[in-house]
Amino acid sequence: MAVETNIDSILGKLVVEKNLCTSTEVQECLELMRKRSTSDNPTTLADALQSQGYVTKSQIERLSSTIAESRPSHRIPGFQILEKIGAGAMATVFKAKQLSLDRTVAVKVLPKRLSENPEYVERFYKEGKAAAMLNHNNIVQAIDVGEAGGYHYFVMEYVEGKTVYDDLSKGKAYTETEALDVIIQIAESLQHAHERGLIHRDVKPKNIMITKDGIAKLADMGLAREAADEAAAQSEVGRAYGTPYYISPEQIRGELNIDYRADIYSLGATFYHMVTGRVPFEAPTPSAVMHKHLRETLVPPDHINPALSVGVAEVIEVMMAKKRTDRYDNCKQLLEDLRAVRRGEPPLLAHKKFDANVLANLEKGSETADIGFEHPDVVSPSTLLAWKTAAIILGGALAVTLLIIFIILNGSKS
Ligand SMILES: Nc1ncnc2c1ncn2[C@@H]1O[C@H](COP(=O)(O)OP(=O)(O)OP(=O)(O)O)[C@@H](O)[C@H]1O
Ligand SMILES: [Mg+2]
Repeated sequence: MAVETNIDSILGKLVVEKNLCTSTEVQECLELMRKRSTSDNPTTLADALQSQGYVTKSQIERLSSTIAESRPSHRIPGFQILEKIGAGAMATVFKAKQLSLDRTVAVKVLPKRLSENPEYVERFYKEGKAAAMLNHNNIVQAIDVGEAGGYHYFVMEYVEGKTVYDDLSKGKAYTETEALDVIIQIAESLQHAHERGLIHRDVKPKNIMITKDGIAKLADMGLAREAADEAAAQSEVGRAYGTPYYISPEQIRGELNIDYRADIYSLGATFYHMVTGRVPFEAPTPSAVMHKHLRETLVPPDHINPALSVGVAEVIEVMMAKKRTDRYDNCKQLLEDLRAVRRGEPPLLAHKKFDANVLANLEKGSETADIGFEHPDVVSPSTLLAWKTAAIILGGALAVTLLIIFIILNGSKS
């Protein structure tokens, strides 16, 4: 007599979840499986589902690989997987017990496809090990990276709490002070990482966790990412995730020398979302969102939420300047302004950045003082000159024509 295994019960749930059959049909197949099985020739639920024609062989194969990816316990020696915590675009996260130290950790298991890219694997080890050397109360502690059974995994501190994304997706609006408290902690964590040579590259609400005591922690520090270029994002069109709401313009352009200021932009975009309830740039496709990061002028956050102080709005605009030279140079500078606005004082460095930019634009002969935005609709000085010349020529020609008509009319009268 066959015993219903864990795999059978997971498969039973999956086929119902995916609307391949009803739970009554699964029950019927489980009965069949029990009747047909002998000790020499055990039958599985997969066999029964196929023999009843509820699922095809290829559907079973696909479901089996989904099950295998979600049950990596036997593949990671030293860890006992307890439960699945969540899954993102790129990986699955499990709560696990690290047996050697008898402590709870989170293990992120990456899909196999990433192991096939040697450059990625090299970065994964390098950045993971560098992150494990960091130690900061506002960074989810990276513990180890490894590979088992063809799967790469990333072991980190287990954080009991929620993400900022969880709040935002439920429609929570952060007050200015609440948001500042989180952003200051994350800017401190970034300063710590940046000073030790690590750039995060994926700062966003989903990667900021908040514990029950209100401690904000930046997750995925040191988790090497795939190149966030247009092609990668394009491949995600139509999926529910991966829309690049917080990515910096230089990452979109696929620039190779990304620096700390990319994290400042993404933190600014996260800050914007927290205090306005809206992402900075919204569009139907990832590539349209990216185009807006590159080209469209940001709607100032205090235009959306008039309750915001001018100071906070200025800080966000400097963080999100399209040209990184117009942003804060580093998190130390950013923190000075964040702490000033938290005390109700003006952000002096943001003012300096605005002033420097106004000067730079005046030197370039432009009357528009902006912080690194390329205005597609603003006419350049050379185009303006061409228009003025054309207007003078046309005006002159019109005056001469009128004069000739006047002379002819006068001549015909006399
Ligand atoms: N260290 C951790 N401790 C506890 N829960 C975690 C931890 N890291 C991640 N999680 C949970 O697992 C979920 C999935 O995380 P993951 O990093 O795979 O994806 P994500 O950041 O949510 O999204 P994306 O894949 O789009 O970047 C998170 O939303 C969070 O709820
Ligand atoms: Mg994450």
